[in-house]
Amino acid sequence: MTPLLRGPADRHDLHHHGDAEVGPGLVDLAVNVRAGTPPAWLRERLTASLDGLAAYPDPTRAVAALAARHGRDTDEVVPTAGGAEAFVLLARALRPRHAVVVHPQFTEPEAALRAAGHAVDRVLLDGDLTLDPATVPADADLVVVGNPTNPTSVRHPADLVAALARPARTLVVDEAFIDTAPGEPDSLAGRRDLPGLVVLRSLTKTWGLAGLRVGYALAPPALAAGLRAAAPPWSVSTPALVALEVCSSEAARTEADDAARALAVDREHLVAALATLPGVEVRGTPAASFVLVRTPGRTDVRARLRERGLAVRRGDTFPGLDTEHVRIAVRSREITDDLVATLREVLGP
Ligand SMILES: Cc1ncc(COP(=O)(O)O)c(C=O)c1O
Repeated sequence: MTPLLRGPADRHDLHHHGDAEVGPGLVDLAVNVRAGTPPAWLRERLTASLDGLAAYPDPTRAVAALAARHGRDTDEVVPTAGGAEAFVLLARALRPRHAVVVHPQFTEPEAALRAAGHAVDRVLLDGDLTLDPATVPADADLVVVGNPTNPTSVRHPADLVAALARPARTLVVDEAFIDTAPGEPDSLAGRRDLPGLVVLRSLTKTWGLAGLRVGYALAPPALAAGLRAAAPPWSVSTPALVALEVCSSEAARTEADDAARALAVDREHLVAALATLPGVEVRGTPAASFVLVRTPGRTDVRARLRERGLAVRRGDTFPGLDTEHVRIAVRSREITDDLVATLREVLGP
């Protein structure tokens, strides 16, 4: 069943993120950003863009590239300083009477709505954590859902997500991890037929650009104009705009698809290795760059792994989850094997 919770943010720290879990001497299994640095071709383009820093940013080329990439008009594209800024812009631009956030999911959308003074209801997914559109109240005029969802790693079929769209409702689909499947089969980014659909994208994860702050929103023209009006002037920097432009190319998309295929192999290895551990349950069907794990009866797993030099992401700050949950990033086979061996030791006979 999916209870609907109304009211304050309760015990969950909506501003806790994986980066708070990592530290010197710890292997990072907590942050879902591409390990290492952005690819060399991208760093070269970013470096070259520094020559233009004396001028204010001009989004024209980035917007045209994104519009072409997604088959949208340029007035439907809004560059943002990461997905995080997009959540704040939405919270500023909209006046929802009944906002609903589908959890467990990334907590910043709810945090931004609350910070802007909006009440938020939660739909909590349970069991295999797949989306059931029927559990979203019919009168919700703002619905926020992640696809694939962080921290569950569950990828919802496009049709299921699209079924949430209706007149007089804004449907926000956070697609920060959508390119973890080659070809992005479940993306709604190109859908112009769905009323009130806002798709949010981020360059943070795939391209290793968390520090640059770069993403974008795709929305019908009036909604897009509202987001632009809510944004501080020039909030997306020249290097970020260059990243948006060059990461929209065919070559970049091919590279992202290749990375997604390699990720799937590493993810299967992690899931198979976890399956050998008694007392470990992988929640849902993982489809992104992390796996949500439950250890029934054990609430100390994160701390024990940390003592042994491995940082995983706590689960209990996500509405719908508790201290029996941790989120583990998909890494190389070597790191995964080390993690699973350590986890076996931590869990004991
Ligand atoms: C699901 C999801 N959406 C959006 C974001 C925001 O990312 P950024 O602001 O770096 O684009 C994150 C970051 O962790 C995330 O996990």
